Amino acid sequence: MTFRPVKTAVFPVGGQGTRFLPATKAMPKEMLPVVDKPLLQYAVDEALAAGIERLVFVTARGKGALEDYFDIARELVDSLVKRGKSAELAILEATQIEPGRMVYVRQQDPAGLGHAVWCARHVVGNEAFAVLLPDELLWNPASPALKEMHEAYEQLGGNIISVLEVPDEHTHRYGIVDPGAVDGLITEVKGLVEKPAAGTAPSRLAAIGRYILQPEVMDVLAQGKRGAGGEIQLTDAMAEMIGVQPFHALTFTGTRFDCGDKTGHMMANVALALERDDIGPALRTWLKGLAL
Ligand code: G1P
Repeated sequence: MTFRPVKTAVFPVGGQGTRFLPATKAMPKEMLPVVDKPLLQYAVDEALAAGIERLVFVTARGKGALEDYFDIARELVDSLVKRGKSAELAILEATQIEPGRMVYVRQQDPAGLGHAVWCARHVVGNEAFAVLLPDELLWNPASPALKEMHEAYEQLGGNIISVLEVPDEHTHRYGIVDPGAVDGLITEVKGLVEKPAAGTAPSRLAAIGRYILQPEVMDVLAQGKRGAGGEIQLTDAMAEMIGVQPFHALTFTGTRFDCGDKTGHMMANVALALERDDIGPALRTWLKGLAL
């Protein structure tokens, strides 16, 4: 199989964020901050660190704030320049992405993750591509998750997904790997099941929202087969590539926060804030003082 470089990343950001109502009534859930950066910015930074050149956001109605976020806030910039606020200007600059590198595609129908990825097919073309689910904050600043996956991809080619062992009682929430040969952090993928019923999971290795995929998966998604929850599932389409193309899972070694969940989002805020020199010490003192 020919080696295709990974230059495009797809970010499915069309979800309604009902778990975070009322905050998400007028704001995309991807804009919820973790400390002072929107969730989506962490995933974008991770993609850029892996050498991604083109960012495709699969959005939906009511997600306009995402487009504004990556735009230049001209009035704000002018006012900061006038007031000599160089630190704030630098913060804004760090979020700036060169024009033409961002593409916005609408998912008109909330038909599932597989459908969202398929909506990006014309932008992806015939290249390998990455998918990042921004709800999953994979924290490993020294070696970002997608970068590690890309390094594995350069060795193995084909399809690579990021995985982590989850407790037995949580396997029904995830795409679960049926594992083959294991070589360190790399596991051969023999099968994939989306949200297996309790007691039926082939392992505890769960997909945690990072994928490097070959474009042929789009042809499978195009068939529009419905899976778990009546949705077009990315996991089901990927499962059809097993045996046709190399397929591996890479175990993530950093800290994972499920920010699609309120508790996970709170934990991410506390953990990342504690790492910060400007707010960490005060927060630590306050936490120690809590009578828990
Ligand atoms: C999606 C995927 C699932 C994956 C999970 C990771 O599920 O369908 O395979 O394990 O993300 O967070 P969702 O959380 O959208 O239900």
